[in-house]
Amino acid sequence: MKVTVVGAGAVGASCAEYIAIKDFASEVVLLDIKEGFAEGKAMDLMQTASLNGFDTKITGVTNDYSKTTDSDICVITSGIPRKPGMTREELIGINAGIVKMVSSSLIEYSPNTILIVVSNPMDTMTYLVHKTTDLPKNRIIGMGGALDSARFKYRLAEALGAPISDVDGMVIGGHSDKGMVPLTAHATRNSVKVSEFLSEDRLNQVKEDTKVGGATLTKLLGTSAWYAPGAAVSGLVQAIACDQNKMFPCSVLLEGEYGLNDLCIGVPVILGRNGIEEIVTIKLSAAEEAHLNESAEGVKKTNALLEL
Ligand code: LAC
Repeated sequence: MKVTVVGAGAVGASCAEYIAIKDFASEVVLLDIKEGFAEGKAMDLMQTASLNGFDTKITGVTNDYSKTTDSDICVITSGIPRKPGMTREELIGINAGIVKMVSSSLIEYSPNTILIVVSNPMDTMTYLVHKTTDLPKNRIIGMGGALDSARFKYRLAEALGAPISDVDGMVIGGHSDKGMVPLTAHATRNSVKVSEFLSEDRLNQVKEDTKVGGATLTKLLGTSAWYAPGAAVSGLVQAIACDQNKMFPCSVLLEGEYGLNDLCIGVPVILGRNGIEEIVTIKLSAAEEAHLNESAEGVKKTNALLEL
């Protein structure tokens, strides 16, 4: 199993690190445009192998896509991250050109690859890959929901005073401050609905804190986060590599599911060896459905800025 991660910045490197630590891939290629940068990160990570106990071989390359040949899974993290006060949507101008170039270079050397898009604005970047490549839709996956759901679970556990392993919950919709739809009515603590333990006001607070999860970190860090994004990507990569048939909310091309068409947005999917094995349709409350529709409008507005 060969995995390529494009972009050796904080998100790309932490993604490579978590994939290696989980030790399910034979090889991870880390690629960056900055001379020597990916080589340095790869060497540093390889020097953790004996300490962390993994055998995955991590190689760094400067912009040489031939080294990514026959990757089973490619992750695109390239582009600029947001600065405090910026929305993910403001990154579209620069990142669209980068994502278009990176995806076509990857597919040239790995025509059978599954692509995971992380660059922001993620739902629009995922849609751009659909519009500008010939990859079938099961092989184009946007990573946002797995991260937003992890942040949701963190906030739920905090509100409940419970360990995170007691909590389950999912965020669908767009990967943006306004677009995220945390499914509070479906969230549980050890199979009991969290509404049994938390007031409506507290749950609304959890929802709001979840939606600005990335922005809160960007304010604190001066740039966007990397540990949870890297861990979330590694979860998707592992589900595909190990054919786990695991359910995650991912940004995928919708063709009528949830009454939506011609956009990529986060909905629950089953991930396995073929990438998206299935789009799962769940029953939403009227409020959740309205929020998802509103979120879709927002994503479509950003998509309209693409020069396709
Ligand atoms: C975040 C970026 C990766 O939410 O979108 O942290």
